[in-house]
Amino acid sequence: MTDPTTSTVPTPRALDALAAVIAEFNVSRPLETSLAVALDTLCRSVDARECSLWLHTADGLVRTWAAGEPQASEASVNASLADGQEAQGVRAVRVTAGDRRVGALVLRFGRPVRDEEVLLLNAVANLLAPELAHAERSRQLEVEVAARTAEIDGQRRFTEKIIDSLPLGLYVIDREYRIHAWNRKRETGMQGVSRDEAIGRTVFDILHRQPFEMLRREFDEVFATGRIQEYQMESSASGDARTYRITKIPMRLGDSAVTHVITIGEDVTDWRQGQQRHVQAEKLAAIGTLAAGVMHEINNPLATIAACGDGLGYRLEDLQRKGADVNKDLFDYLEIIDNEVLRCKQIVDQLLDFSRPKQLAKSPVDLNDVVEKTLFLMKHHAGFKKMALVKELADALPVVPLGNAEQLVQVLMALMINAADATDGRGSITVRTRKGPTTTDGAIVEVSDTGHGIARSEMSKIFEPFYTTKPPGRGTGLGLAICYGIVQDHRGRIEVDSVSGKGSTFRVLLPTIEW
Ligand SMILES: Nc1ncnc2c1ncn2[C@@H]1O[C@H](COP(=O)(O)OP(=O)(O)OP(=O)(O)O)[C@@H](O)[C@H]1O
Ligand SMILES: [Mg+2]
Repeated sequence: MTDPTTSTVPTPRALDALAAVIAEFNVSRPLETSLAVALDTLCRSVDARECSLWLHTADGLVRTWAAGEPQASEASVNASLADGQEAQGVRAVRVTAGDRRVGALVLRFGRPVRDEEVLLLNAVANLLAPELAHAERSRQLEVEVAARTAEIDGQRRFTEKIIDSLPLGLYVIDREYRIHAWNRKRETGMQGVSRDEAIGRTVFDILHRQPFEMLRREFDEVFATGRIQEYQMESSASGDARTYRITKIPMRLGDSAVTHVITIGEDVTDWRQGQQRHVQAEKLAAIGTLAAGVMHEINNPLATIAACGDGLGYRLEDLQRKGADVNKDLFDYLEIIDNEVLRCKQIVDQLLDFSRPKQLAKSPVDLNDVVEKTLFLMKHHAGFKKMALVKELADALPVVPLGNAEQLVQVLMALMINAADATDGRGSITVRTRKGPTTTDGAIVEVSDTGHGIARSEMSKIFEPFYTTKPPGRGTGLGLAICYGIVQDHRGRIEVDSVSGKGSTFRVLLPTIEW
């Protein structure tokens, strides 16, 4: 008679149970279902009260599958695994993958366990081990994939945030001209198109302001050459004229051909104006240096010519007094010489304004007073005789703390004479003062006229020294250049709005803080 506790021969019943469990595994269905059914079959085959499978996952978590409730506690599983014996009618068998314990198969019998049952449990445990190891690997992979996906999502959101935070319009197209990225700046603004609307459509469906052919050529150029293209574009779509710097950048997903083009649009209006101001300032400085160099050379001969002219005049008068018949033409010639010398001296004096040390004494100036003084001086100017002159002075205009009233009068006079010239004495001129929006542009004075205006193409030239459209003898083209220099010396700005044929407004904006 064999001792049932030491028998190692599986009984037919145990073999049947094993076959039943294997059969459950041969059915094609999800692992979770197979495990639950197999455990149930096992439970019934060996007449156990509960049957559960514990899985110790790599991350330390315990996953369980169970047939029947409740499950054995982890402590009792560990206890029975430790001594290899059943504890409180519970029998636990190791499930190992290679030499690693991955879990335990646990049965609560509530009675002594037979050896053949232990054999059966071991066989089932061996059967389950590769499935569990596989399930665990899949689960780990799933967890890793989920973590990687979350990381990639996070990185994508981060990159999107970066391109959305840029103060530039940015979009990306592929070789079919389809839009793949469209940042926040492209969504906002007057010409804004939402991202949902843009993504997936061709750039020609979305951007209509540029002619189709031109836009296509620009992209094709980048695709073909692989080189960055950069150019500037003027646009008045948002109301006032703005300058944009457009950059098209090739992008390669692989190593070879350009697969995408990134387009960046940047509003460079302020930068460009600043640069123009800088160029202007440099030109003025160069003129100043030049003037300083030549003034001496010119002033001396001019003084000599003037003195000789005077001398000739006295001589002719002398001869006349002595009864000589002096031709009247000679006096006319002398007068011409006198006038021309005077004109040359005036030009030299104006040029000197550039070369004089800039920092003239500054004290608090009220722009309203400057306007009044200028109007007083202009009262007798021939150009203003028949003109309608409107004065609109602001109350409580902030004082310009560092100003030179004399120079500012000179600026206003130059602007008003220009306005009078532009209106041919027939239109109207308005002089206006007002408080500015910020302390850097704190006090503003404007001279508006209803004259012939300035063509857009000429706008960039009017502050250039010697640029004039007036007939020879009427203008030297220095008025605005000098105004520019004076206003700059006051840390202010000078702006122009003009519509050809309608009139112009020159605006001087001065700081109302000390600098
Ligand atoms: N209010 C205005 N309306 C139309 N054009 C103007 C006006 N102000 C200036 N301009 C244009 O700008 C040019 C340059 O002006 P600027 O005052 O520098 O020189 P000018 O008036 O020609 O000569 P100058 O002032 O030295 O006697 C003018 O010749 C004119 O073409
Ligand atoms: Mg002028």
